[in-house]
Amino acid sequence: MATNPVPDHVPPEMVGDFNLFSSPGMSPTPNGDPHAAVACVHAGPRIFYSPWNTRTGQGAWVITRAADQRRVLQETENFSSHRNIFASALGEDWPTIPLELDPPSHAVFRSMLNPLFSPKRVAELEPAIRERATTLITRIASSGTSCDAMKDFAYPFGVGIFLRFLGLPEHRLETFVAWAKDLLHGDDVRRPAAARTIVAFIDELAAMRRKKPVDDFMSFIVQAQVEGRGLRDDEVRGIGVLVFVAGLDTVATAIGFDLAYLARNLEDQELLRKEPDRIVRAAEELLRAFPSVHMIRVARKDIDFEGAPIRKGDFVSCATMIANRDPAEFESPNTVDLTREGIRHASFGYGPHRCLGSHLARREIVIGLEEWLARLPPFRIKEGTAPITHGGSLFGIENLILEWG
Ligand code: HEM
Repeated sequence: MATNPVPDHVPPEMVGDFNLFSSPGMSPTPNGDPHAAVACVHAGPRIFYSPWNTRTGQGAWVITRAADQRRVLQETENFSSHRNIFASALGEDWPTIPLELDPPSHAVFRSMLNPLFSPKRVAELEPAIRERATTLITRIASSGTSCDAMKDFAYPFGVGIFLRFLGLPEHRLETFVAWAKDLLHGDDVRRPAAARTIVAFIDELAAMRRKKPVDDFMSFIVQAQVEGRGLRDDEVRGIGVLVFVAGLDTVATAIGFDLAYLARNLEDQELLRKEPDRIVRAAEELLRAFPSVHMIRVARKDIDFEGAPIRKGDFVSCATMIANRDPAEFESPNTVDLTREGIRHASFGYGPHRCLGSHLARREIVIGLEEWLARLPPFRIKEGTAPITHGGSLFGIENLILEWG
C-alpha cells in the first residue's frame, strides 16, 4: 500500500505506522485474529497520525484510548460526522441520515426514527426472530454434520430479519446479501456499482410507498413529518440507504465471530449449553471482544487534542476494536471472559450517534446463539479449513466451516 504524504502540521514524531487496512493481521488472513492484532496500539501514545487509515486512502489521527474516543464522539461542536461518504462515492452530495448529520438537525431525525427501533418494537419482532433462527438451524441440523455458518446461518438470519423489519420481500435475500458484500467489501468497480444499485432500489421503493403506503418502514418514512413538513426525496433516500447498509452486515459479522470463538473454546460452549441464562451476558462480552465498526469524525476547527495539533478538516479515527481492548477500561482485555461483569463496551458507538439498531442487534445475537446451542451438538472448526478474517473499515469473517458429531 502506498504511503500518503504526511501533512506539514503533523509533527514527524507523532506519525505511527499502524493502520486498520494493511498492518499485520488486517488483510484477509486464514485463522487470523484482527482484534488481537489491533491491541498493539495501546503500548503506544494516546493519539498518533496514520498516513493511511480510511478506505479511500486518507490519513487520520488515531485515538487509542476509549475515554478519549468518547470525548471525540461526544464533542460534536469540534468533531463532525458529516462526510457524505456514500454519496461522494457516486459523485453526489447528500448525507446518510441520521449518521452524517450533526446536532441540532441530527436530533430532529433521530427522534423521528427512535420509536421504530425501541425495545418495545424489538420485543414485537422477537417471535419472528426466533422462528427464523429455528428454521435455519433445524435445516442445518437435518442436512449433515457440517455447514458454512456464515452462508447457511449468519447471513440469511441477520439479513432475513432485517428485510422483514423493512417490509421487503424475503425472496430477494440473496440479492441483498450480494449488494451488501459488494458495497462493504468489494473493489473499486463493484463498490460504486453496488452503491448505485442500492440507491436506485431505495428510490424506487420510496416512490412505490408514496403512491401506495403499506404497514412497513419505508411507508412510515415517506409519511413522516419533521418540523411540520414531510421529508424530501433526498432525505428519504439518506435514511433508507443508511438503515439498509447499517443493518445488513453487522449482525451477521457479530454472530460469525461469536460462533468462531465458541468453535475454538469448547468449555465455553459447554458452559452456555448447560446454563443458557448466561448467554445474554456472554453475548455482551463477545460484542466487546469482537466489534466490527470503525468510526471516523472530521475536525470542525483547529484543536489541540492531548498534544496533537489537529487541524480543521483532519480525519479522526475512533475504532471500536481499539476502544474495546483498552487495558485502562477492561482487565485482561485480550482474554474473552464470558462471565465478565459491568461491560461498558464501545461496539455500538457513543454519544448522539450511538447505534439506533442496538436493541434489535442484541436480541438477534442472543436468540441466534440460544437456538444454535440448543439445537446443535458441540461444534468446532472443520479440520482442514480456516475461517478468513479481515480488518478494514468493517472487520469481518468469511467461510466459517463448522463440523460436529
Ligand atoms: C452488531 C450489530 C451492530 C453494530 C456493531 C453496530 C454498530 C454501530 C455503530 C458503532 C454506530 C455509530 C457510528 C458512528 O457514530 O459513526 C452505529 C450507528 C447506527 N446504527 Fe448500528 N450497529 C449494529 C446493528 C445495527 C442494526 C441492526 C441497525 C438497523 C436496523 C443499525 C442502525 C444504525 C443506525 C441507523 C445508526 C446511526 C445512528 C445515528 O447516527 O444517530 N445498526 N451502529
